[in-house]
Amino acid sequence: MPTTTAPMVVESSSAAAPTLSFELRLLLLMALLALLSGSVRVANGEYISHHYQHNFTCVDWKRAPEAAVGNCTRYGRYGALRCYGGINNLPAIPEQKVRRLEEIVFCGWPERAFNPLTDLQPFPKIRSLTIEYSELREFVLDFPEMFYLQSINISWTNLSQINARTFKRVHALRVVDLRWNKLVQLDGPLLLPRYFEKLYLAENPWNCTRNFKWLLIPEKGEMVADRDEIICTDKKYKERHMLTVMNYKVMLRTECQSHADLQNCTCTMHHIIPKTHIPLYTINCSNLQFHAMPNYIPANTTTIYLNDNQITDVLPLRNNPTYRHVVDVHLDNNRIESIDVLEGGYWFEHFRLLSLRGNELQKMPVYALDNALDDNPNANLLLLSGNPWQCTCIFTMRFREILMKYIEIMRDAGNITCNYKHISPLRRANVLAITREDVCKPEEEPKIYPLDLLNGVLAFLIVLILSKLAYDYYHYKNYGRVPWIVMKLP
Ligand SMILES: *[C@@H]1O[C@H](CO)[C@@H](O)[C@H](O)[C@H]1NC(C)=O
Ligand SMILES: *[C@@H]1O[C@H](CO)[C@@H](O)[C@H](O)[C@H]1NC(C)=O
Ligand SMILES: *[C@@H]1O[C@H](CO)[C@@H](O)[C@H](O)[C@H]1NC(C)=O
Ligand SMILES: *[C@@H]1O[C@H](CO)[C@@H](O)[C@H](O)[C@H]1NC(C)=O
Ligand SMILES: *[C@@H]1O[C@H](CO)[C@@H](O)[C@H](O)[C@H]1NC(C)=O
Ligand SMILES: *[C@@H]1O[C@H](CO)[C@@H](O)[C@H](O)[C@H]1NC(C)=O
Ligand SMILES: *[C@@H]1O[C@H](CO)[C@@H](O)[C@H](O)[C@H]1NC(C)=O
Ligand SMILES: *[C@@H]1O[C@H](CO)[C@@H](O)[C@H](O)[C@H]1NC(C)=O
Repeated sequence: MPTTTAPMVVESSSAAAPTLSFELRLLLLMALLALLSGSVRVANGEYISHHYQHNFTCVDWKRAPEAAVGNCTRYGRYGALRCYGGINNLPAIPEQKVRRLEEIVFCGWPERAFNPLTDLQPFPKIRSLTIEYSELREFVLDFPEMFYLQSINISWTNLSQINARTFKRVHALRVVDLRWNKLVQLDGPLLLPRYFEKLYLAENPWNCTRNFKWLLIPEKGEMVADRDEIICTDKKYKERHMLTVMNYKVMLRTECQSHADLQNCTCTMHHIIPKTHIPLYTINCSNLQFHAMPNYIPANTTTIYLNDNQITDVLPLRNNPTYRHVVDVHLDNNRIESIDVLEGGYWFEHFRLLSLRGNELQKMPVYALDNALDDNPNANLLLLSGNPWQCTCIFTMRFREILMKYIEIMRDAGNITCNYKHISPLRRANVLAITREDVCKPEEEPKIYPLDLLNGVLAFLIVLILSKLAYDYYHYKNYGRVPWIVMKLP
């Protein structure tokens, strides 16, 4: 690199001071060399930008007189160029001088698009490019093959997307700073040239719902010098660190892949609790022909979907400790015939959601449900419609009572129906609309029958006694005869 700078310095100094005496020119040359060797230091491989050294910033670029017309100014002894809101006077600068420029700063690049191919074409020797406070939204093309450019700094622009290959052909590139822009997502790790060192990405409105797992892969993620400082801004992970989010995503993926039961399930993180940073996971094993609930559920899972399977047993909810904190369980359209086993267990008194629509439930211990819901302040939703509940006097009347008591939790109560078992064709009734007469009479008929018989007999006996009384009275009145039983009395 120094070999390329040295002749240029000689040229430019000779061009800048043609009338000076030889000694003075020599002195100037030495001073310039000293200055440049300090500013354009390549020994350790990193280019120290001029505008840094000159303490130059774009912050107040609009106040510069050139900003009104979009002019550029050369500085740093003409190795550098800064342009305010445009490059309108570039044609007025001799082309050979432009071609030698090493450092370009665009304050307020006036367009939404930046085309590296054409916009950088006048500067073949450029080593450092800075674009700040700009409407820039995108690079219309990737950077072309470039051999000197080492540092790119784009800040305070509206840059919102960047192609993975954008910088791939900038062979000498070492540092890219993209902080303070509007970047939302990357489609993957940026493809960067061989000797690349540091990429800065913080202070952008990153959407961590997107995939940034590559940040955790050492050789790809370590290039992102500030990866610890990247904060998410999407709704789901707002204010969480991107690395934390990606760490949990990878952990969850590993957990789900390493348990055979869960291999075909979809495992997602749906939230990270603020402050404590506890992740919350959802596992979706719907429609996978499962015959049983999975034996293992990753820690921090709160929701599981097991809809549309062939599960018959809910015992794991009671027995398997991995379900302890799975508060939302969806078991719609399975083959569950009974939830009696849940009675009195920890899970039944702590769940938040249990959906059992479309199963084969006929009866359940209603008192147990009552107790569980009574003791469970978290219970929010319990769905039981679409089951062949039995219409029997005792069960159905109790069931209806519970439905009404917990109607806010059992929100599909209006759709819960029961079947009359002994009546064909099968008759269905809406449990909430059922009355005692509907359900109790036909069922209780056989039990009532002997009583009725007894009543009949008793009534018959009463009539018999009364008529005997009348007969005796008649005989006594007319013939003075008392019934023989009176004679026998002592
Ligand atoms: C802009 O550049 C043109 C051409 O070099 C020059 O004539 C003009 O004075 C400059 N204007 C400002 C405000 O610097
Ligand atoms: C970026 O875009 C927003 C609106 O889309 C605009 O208000 C803002 O001025 C732009 N920023 C810059 C630096 O041009
Ligand atoms: C890029 O520019 C910004 C704003 O001027 C500055 O804060 C930052 O340090 C620069 N980055 C590098 C790597 O020099
Ligand atoms: C983030 O990405 C997700 C998934 O692509 C998308 O649904 C969501 O709308 C995005 N959010 C923002 C704020 O861009
Ligand atoms: C997952 O799906 C594959 C292909 O459909 C199947 O062969 C395998 O048995 C499934 N694994 C489980 C645990 O269901
Ligand atoms: C569950 O959350 C805790 C933080 O509360 C974390 O330490 C642990 O690694 C998480 N486990 C899984 C499997 O994500
Ligand atoms: C769960 O997976 C099933 C089948 O893949 C899908 O139809 C359903 O929408 C998923 N449910 C949720 C809540 O993601
Ligand atoms: C009841 O069932 C009907 C038809 O299946 C459905 O449209 C409605 O949303 C259900 N209502 C409740 C509260 O589940």
